[in-house]
Amino acid sequence: MDRVYITTPLYYVNAEPHLGSAYTMILTDTLARYCRAIGYETFYLTGTDEHGDKIAQAAASAGLEPKAFTDQISATFRAVWDECGFTYDRFIRTTDDYHVRYVQEVLGKVYESGDIYFDRYSGLYCFGCERFYTDKELVDGKCPDHLTEPKLIEEENYFFKMSKYQDQLLRHIETYPQFIRPEGYKNEVLAMLREPIEDLCISRPKSRLTWGIELPFDNRYVTYVWFDALINYVSALKRYGEGDFQKFWHEAQHFIGKDIVKPHGVFWPTMLLAAGLPLYKHLNVHGYWTVEGKKMSKSIGNTISPLEMKQTIGMDAFRYFILRESVFGQDADFRQENLIARYNADLANNLGNLVSRVLAMQQKYFGGIVQPLSADWAPEDIELRDRFVHAENELDGYLRELQFHRALEAVWSALDSANRYVVQTAPFTMIKDAETKARVGEVLHHLLEVVRTLARVLAPFMPETVLKLSELLAIGEDRLNAPWGQGLVAGHKVNPPIVLFSRIIEPGTAELKLGTTSPKVL
Ligand code: MSP
Repeated sequence: MDRVYITTPLYYVNAEPHLGSAYTMILTDTLARYCRAIGYETFYLTGTDEHGDKIAQAAASAGLEPKAFTDQISATFRAVWDECGFTYDRFIRTTDDYHVRYVQEVLGKVYESGDIYFDRYSGLYCFGCERFYTDKELVDGKCPDHLTEPKLIEEENYFFKMSKYQDQLLRHIETYPQFIRPEGYKNEVLAMLREPIEDLCISRPKSRLTWGIELPFDNRYVTYVWFDALINYVSALKRYGEGDFQKFWHEAQHFIGKDIVKPHGVFWPTMLLAAGLPLYKHLNVHGYWTVEGKKMSKSIGNTISPLEMKQTIGMDAFRYFILRESVFGQDADFRQENLIARYNADLANNLGNLVSRVLAMQQKYFGGIVQPLSADWAPEDIELRDRFVHAENELDGYLRELQFHRALEAVWSALDSANRYVVQTAPFTMIKDAETKARVGEVLHHLLEVVRTLARVLAPFMPETVLKLSELLAIGEDRLNAPWGQGLVAGHKVNPPIVLFSRIIEPGTAELKLGTTSPKVL
């Protein structure tokens, strides 16, 4: 049986969930749902990253001990993700006992094999990134992410012989060009590996930081947060023995944002090589979201909260917008104007109107009773079916390439055809003539097949909407996979329409003044 292991980064607990973290969750949740739907045995992991300077500082400013603080924020992450309906299989915290033990086991093993050594070091350290920077990596002397000047730190520490594995990793990436994708990020890592890389400082003296995992071979030190956190991808699978690890590790697909390519593309694989573990299968890197053209930040007050989105437009509409508006790997901009435009055009009009029109006609003309299909289908019926079969095939190909926006485009282009089919066949005119009533029954049957197909193909993207679609059709999951024309039997009764997405109208627009619909304001 095919298997897949999908992971998100472990979120730092110094900020609450926002559009950035929700983005990785939406991408991975969509993929996990799709993989399950096509029969892959799927393991989907997320969690929280809780050690290190940043967290200790955040706890101190909240007036709490680090453990009490991380318990609180980690629980918030879990509650928010649950409220959003994300279907992760395991939630790991880097403070979990089993993880701590496994990190120490890996450290002990790598130390014994001679790949960890003790040395004096002085370097420029960014507390925001929790790492040392080389002069070359700084922009105008500042950390490119935090725009702060790193501090010069000199101390004795433990180092991991990362450089020893540089060539091996370089060869691996050259042999498996899909190891890191999209390609631009692979090239970024290749460029890093073609220059000499330094060994990695993997300890912090307890005199400076106590909030971390103690080194098993020197209790004066704790582990560098990345050496701790990255190991979660393996420790999570080993929580209850070797079973999950044996089953899933070979199919590991990590999803991360572009800011953490180096730890995942260089630190992590070299750590795996040193620990004698196989490399992961793919590192999938997504871009960054800005909001109305600006970097999201608490101080500007422009952070987007997933729960607020759920309350204002609904989780499915939020998921749709995020997946449709961004191209995997590239940056995207969250604009309210675009959100409203897509919501109204794609969800309220295209999808919502089609579904309610079809069900309204079915109700009005046949009391909701599905009519029989004749053995001979008209060319336009066959064309309609073929459009959806084609869209579903395309969707599969696009999702395998992580082209989420293209997958949705394929479905919406089939939806356009369905809307054209309504205009072309004009059941609302044909019904006036008793002789063509049977044909109206057939046309509506095909349109109900459109709704049933949507309930299947949109399931990974818009899980709440597809439940509504199944309820409207009054069918269970067992009917969803039947071929076109065989999912709904004649005589079955479907339900009257409901409003799936009521139009959002911005205050002050002409439409609002005309009062065509009850306004819903963001
Ligand atoms: N704790 C580390 C990851 C350790 S994984 C072993 C970390 N955490 S984070 O909370 O800072 O970031 C988590 C993820 O959110 C990263 O993939 C990051 O790229 C993503 N995002 C944070 N802000 C973002 C945007 N504005 N847009 C898109 N993703 C962004 O890094």
